[in-house]
Amino acid sequence: MILQNTAAQSITLHTAHTTYQMKVDEDGRLCHIYYGVRTGGELADDRPTHLFDKGCWPDLLPLECGTPGVGDNRAPSVIMEYADGSQAADFRFVKAEVCIGKYQLPDLPAFRGTKADVETLAITLRDEGGLEAELLYGVYEQMDMITRTVVYTNRGQAPMKLRQAGSLCIDFEDYPLDFITFDGVWAGEHIFQRRPVYDGTQSVGSTKGIPGHGHNPAAILCRPDTGESYGDCWGFALVYSGNFLIQTERGEAGTRFTMGIHPYHFCWTLGCGESFAAPEVAMVYSDSGFGTMSRRFHDAIRQYLLPQRWSGLNQPRPVLINSWEACYFDFDEGKLLELAIASRKAGIDLFVLDDGWFKGRNNTESSLGDWVADERKLPSGVHGLCEKINALGMDFGIWVEPEAVSPDSYFYRAHPSWALEIPGRKTLEIRNQYILDFTRPEVREGIWQQLKTLLDSCPICYVKWDMNRSLANVHSAVLPPDRQGEVYHRYVLGVYDLQRKLTQRYPDLLLENCASGGARFDCGMLSFSPQIWCSDNTDVRARLGIQHGTSFIYPLCTMGAHFSTVPNHCTHRTSSVEARMAAALSGTFGFELDLTTYTEEQLDELKPYIAWFHAHGALVRSGDLYRLMAPDAQNSGAAWMVVAKDKSEMAVFAVGTALNGRGRSRPRLLLEGLDEFAVYQDETGKQWTGSVLMRSGLPLPGGEGDVPGMICWMKRV
Ligand code: DGJ
Repeated sequence: MILQNTAAQSITLHTAHTTYQMKVDEDGRLCHIYYGVRTGGELADDRPTHLFDKGCWPDLLPLECGTPGVGDNRAPSVIMEYADGSQAADFRFVKAEVCIGKYQLPDLPAFRGTKADVETLAITLRDEGGLEAELLYGVYEQMDMITRTVVYTNRGQAPMKLRQAGSLCIDFEDYPLDFITFDGVWAGEHIFQRRPVYDGTQSVGSTKGIPGHGHNPAAILCRPDTGESYGDCWGFALVYSGNFLIQTERGEAGTRFTMGIHPYHFCWTLGCGESFAAPEVAMVYSDSGFGTMSRRFHDAIRQYLLPQRWSGLNQPRPVLINSWEACYFDFDEGKLLELAIASRKAGIDLFVLDDGWFKGRNNTESSLGDWVADERKLPSGVHGLCEKINALGMDFGIWVEPEAVSPDSYFYRAHPSWALEIPGRKTLEIRNQYILDFTRPEVREGIWQQLKTLLDSCPICYVKWDMNRSLANVHSAVLPPDRQGEVYHRYVLGVYDLQRKLTQRYPDLLLENCASGGARFDCGMLSFSPQIWCSDNTDVRARLGIQHGTSFIYPLCTMGAHFSTVPNHCTHRTSSVEARMAAALSGTFGFELDLTTYTEEQLDELKPYIAWFHAHGALVRSGDLYRLMAPDAQNSGAAWMVVAKDKSEMAVFAVGTALNGRGRSRPRLLLEGLDEFAVYQDETGKQWTGSVLMRSGLPLPGGEGDVPGMICWMKRV
């Protein structure tokens, strides 16, 4: 619900449990008043008026869109450069309009919404120099989520430049806050990191052209005492897949939080009358801890962001086998078919052919860009292999890396000017590959024609779209020197354009994004692909930290998670089947190992897990997540559970440590979210009341084995 109080000059956004309020001060500046638990009345009148007596100190005002050069010296939301070279703007309120339904952002992904469930607030602010900012808010009342972005328009008489175009700016009052981000490295992505907001500036971001392994484009602010089930927290997720900056700045007036495209090498020319839309941010506030916040994000992402074809709760996802850890580059059709036969015996639905299938590709040194089968490995082509896999009763999927090109490829030799390169400077190879200039429609078209030929050649149900390097030599041959600052953003728009085209032309295709593991795991990509490969690290202990961090914003059904062999390829550690299955079953569930080495008995042992996913995958996809026990720094154990919305069933997943139970008591897992008066029964027929499970709980798995695990499904009887 959006309320405008013209007398108080305030605008209030209410969701079911939260309130966000702004007020226009007497000088016409739009101030941020409140974001927190839902309030009954008009907040502005209850607030200390001193906030609004500081006209001569814009530095102290809580602003909705900070600007530089006119007295607010904190991190600005936008930096413009007018034709006279000045970089100053002073936004004043012009109007606010409310409409039902969700605002649209041209070319950018965004949360969807119908007229029945979203309202839009559009506030126009204008600077006398000619820059106008339209602040857009999407209010998802039942989801307890607000989206926010800004469309910047040049209403002046001369072109201007945007050197920074922020999406979000919120000024929090002066109380202690913690800043949580999801950071890491290759094979260790999205690790939960918490520290106090210190005086001065703290930030995470990316200048790699993709978000990267280092930092995820999402963050949380919270009170120092906030935990899983108590305390205030504010979560923010950027719907964007390129360079980004998330920053806190603590100073005299409290903490300013800003989020948006990274200003590094960003400079966008706005001709007269032209607009620039910043990517949207999804915001969720909870007064009952991170658990509630995550569940709100999960509901909103599942319902309003994931492609509709895959967002339905009853829309099963296939259990897949991926050839990468089974074969790497070393395979031929015979070997792939053996793998497929073994996989089918275990009950796997989909065979995914990873890297190495195309013309001359035997290692990372060549062939990206040549998306036709290597007939030495696949004599009957991709279509021949697909036909044989289909004949086994399995679907077929394939890996591509459309944005990359190998210098040693037919495609590059035919179009050497289609890679990003700076004239006169040697182009950097990373993993022996260049990046194609996806800002250019003809380059995207060259790749699209190949993808279309491939996908039209046989029934390919699934595509894994990989991206294995950061951008460098960022320069486009078709843009003039003064517009090179647009390349990073235009590149991201180009990726979105091709993924949009792909998913529109093949509406039943299951697209899984990937970037060297989880280097591009964000709400932008999730609007095209309902699942993203979470990490190249499939070791269960490493996965505890990775999937735990990922779950703060993103639902379980988005996390690409596979059961793999031991010792693990990445860490050389061993772990129990049950523990590895617990991690994989609480994601998209697939396999990534050489099943041709398995005996018939071993294949039979996998069957119950696949049957489990077929039976309970809908619960994992649609239920409420409760993180029962966070992994410690050594990832020595963790537990989590999923409860059906109507509390009729649940699944508990836990990974322990061999130490649990040796000379010390095993921690008990107190379950959450159950109907305390109901009786729940597990698959062996054992029964407990909801209240016993929540007050006395279940023991964490322990014992002598290698990283023990537990998967337990129960239903209400
Ligand atoms: C990186 C991905 O994360 C892996 O799963 C695999 O697809 C390789 N690329 C293939 O080159």
